[in-house]
Amino acid sequence: MSESAATPSSPRPSRPKGEPRFPDGPSPDPAGSHFERRIRSFQPRRSRVTTSQADALQRLWPKWGLDIDGQRVLDLADLFGGGGELPVVLEIGFGMGEATAQMAADDPDTGILAVDVHTPGQGNLLGLAERNDLTNIRVANGDAVILLREMLPPASLDGLRVYFPDPWPKARHHKRRIIQPDFLDLAAPRLKPGALLHCATDWEPYAEQMLDVLTAHPAFENTQADGGYAPRPSFRPLTRFEGQGLDKGHVVHDLLFRRTTGE
Ligand SMILES: C[S@@+](CC[C@H](N)C(=O)[O-])C[C@H]1O[C@@H](n2cnc3c(N)ncnc32)[C@H](O)[C@@H]1O
Repeated sequence: MSESAATPSSPRPSRPKGEPRFPDGPSPDPAGSHFERRIRSFQPRRSRVTTSQADALQRLWPKWGLDIDGQRVLDLADLFGGGGELPVVLEIGFGMGEATAQMAADDPDTGILAVDVHTPGQGNLLGLAERNDLTNIRVANGDAVILLREMLPPASLDGLRVYFPDPWPKARHHKRRIIQPDFLDLAAPRLKPGALLHCATDWEPYAEQMLDVLTAHPAFENTQADGGYAPRPSFRPLTRFEGQGLDKGHVVHDLLFRRTTGE
């Protein structure tokens, strides 16, 4: 029987009030940021977690998951283990994680620190990592802004990926878009000189905004000699949101900028 076909005779056991949803899994709002007055790039939502996602969260979170509590600075070499110095790329907003898992499989010598607030996606990505024997993914739960601000050492990242961030199309919501000058100010010092910042979007006005703010920022330079969008790199798989955008006839733009040595 599929998980969605649960009958009234097999009800989900109810959880006493105040009990954590996943005792060994991600914490709800680990940094307490719901009480900050800061504008966030995501909408807190409570989504249904399937049985297999819940199982992955319970079993694999202690091994491969971390809460963004804003209370400690991460040692990325330690986080990815093995004693070696794996290059580490941060992916912000992995959604259900299919593209993340694909990129991890394609490049096992790079660690991917994948962050999202979406609990079903966290379970899904952990399950994908286990089923595909991927040991180079760590799943971070919480707001990427707090991760960058409080928990990542200077010049610790070899790359940053932001694929199909929420477009926030209404004018009154534009301030929620993640790619803004303030965000770039925060991200730039955590990137090693020469590291790539790779963004993609299917929302034309957001693509224009990304190009404007990235071009204007002194810590980044466009990899494209003409100063425009990049051809879609072969290493970026189709993402779930991208597929939905393409079905609607949207045009996808990739932006590939390099962290400069100055600033
Ligand atoms: C539109 S979805 C795209 C998901 C995926 N990259 C794709 O292309 O299918 C954007 C994701 O970013 C996440 N997100 C937005 N702002 C975030 C933040 N500040 N920290 C962590 N995740 C964030 C959302 O929860 C959502 O899952």
